[in-house]
Amino acid sequence: MEKFVIQGGAPLTGTIPVSGSKNSALPTLAACLLTGETVTLDRIPPVRDIGTMIDLIRHTGADVKVEGGRVTICAANVEKPEAPYEVVKTMRASSLVLGPLVARCGRARVSLPGGCAIGARPINLHVNALEQLGAEVRQEHGYIEAVAPQGLKGATVEFDRITVTGTEDLLMAAVLAKGESIIENAAREPEVVDLANLLIKMGAKIEGAGTSTIRVQGVTTLGGTQHTIIADRIEAGTFLIAGAITRGDLTVQGCVPEHLRSLISKMRQSGVEITETAPDALHVRVPGKLKHVDITTEEHPGFATDLQAQFMALMTQAEGISFITEKIFENRFMHVLELARMGANIRIEGRQAIVAGPTRLSGAQVIASDLRASASLVLAAIAAEGETEIDRVYHIDRGYEHIETKLNAVGAMIRRETH
Ligand code: EPZ
Repeated sequence: MEKFVIQGGAPLTGTIPVSGSKNSALPTLAACLLTGETVTLDRIPPVRDIGTMIDLIRHTGADVKVEGGRVTICAANVEKPEAPYEVVKTMRASSLVLGPLVARCGRARVSLPGGCAIGARPINLHVNALEQLGAEVRQEHGYIEAVAPQGLKGATVEFDRITVTGTEDLLMAAVLAKGESIIENAAREPEVVDLANLLIKMGAKIEGAGTSTIRVQGVTTLGGTQHTIIADRIEAGTFLIAGAITRGDLTVQGCVPEHLRSLISKMRQSGVEITETAPDALHVRVPGKLKHVDITTEEHPGFATDLQAQFMALMTQAEGISFITEKIFENRFMHVLELARMGANIRIEGRQAIVAGPTRLSGAQVIASDLRASASLVLAAIAAEGETEIDRVYHIDRGYEHIETKLNAVGAMIRRETH
């Protein structure tokens, strides 16, 4: 087991680079199963979840080559269209292979995801959508078995609620379905747009990605291509908050400001000065006091749930009462009790966390519980007085590429220790 030992109090100064998006890499890797030709993806971040997805794709029989941030996949021979429990239980995004495998092979056997720290996170919407494209789906022994012996048939599918990977799964199935599909109440996340851009380069016919209605004209086969995925907006947002919470003077390099509008607006409202110093760079500093700001997490382009925990850490340093409402997941406040151990004054009332600030944060022993909660603890620790130990940092490694190396390069003092 590994832990971080962090000395707090140093302002972050300089330039910190952003990696490729984990949540774009996962669906684009799965999309490579849709063709027997070679697909090359660049800027793939070497984080644990990507390793899990690559293992999963290799398990199906596809050939995968990894050279740094470049992943080359040739799925000419998909002998085993399945995602086994031992893989899916470590990463629920494994369900992203369901759509591609049914569309390409006419069948798929994917383990149901286990529970997850932040909520039940079922995949009923994914399954229901595929059934509307003609797949016959049954569940037994903890697995989803989906078959479409005559192939999938285009349909109009309206999601009961917006689902990011549900939209991505359906999109990857629809591109090879016969006829037209219309996806209503589709997710509008940048990662959905990035996936659509890859599929179009592979020969798919897609319109409207990034809006609530996506139109797809099915094609019979898709070809190979090269694609560089987008920057990780959640990592970029985490670094913006790191610069603010340490009252540093930090430039976040290699990001897409357009993908961060909601966070930037809320940080500016709280008194943080954020300037776009280049098309792919944001500079952050805090000239005066921080003021309390309320947020409610929503689907994109609303405030991202994946930045809620990090923003909460910042609000512990703001004057006044901040109301943080989590509307996407039912249990995404695990970081609250750990932040409280460091001196934060936060009360939970149902879906709302009420943060009273500013409070002096002091180093303590805390435990990471899920990916973004862990990032929030790192932010609190680099701003706290004294030493913090964060246990179970494997949660952080799932979605951040060497976060301590990047933060130490701009002044943080983080040591990774095995115990
Ligand atoms: C994606 O998860 C992201 N993961 C999550 O990021 C992110 O938090 C989430 O979208 C919301 O933005 C990837 O893209 C790999 P949803 P996803 O389906 O697709 C419910 C991170 O930290 N739901 O949009 O799984 C679900 O329980 C991760 O990088 C159903 O009820 O999220 C949730 O309450 C964490 N049935 C809501 O919808 C379904 O079939 C939104 O979930 C699917 C979802």
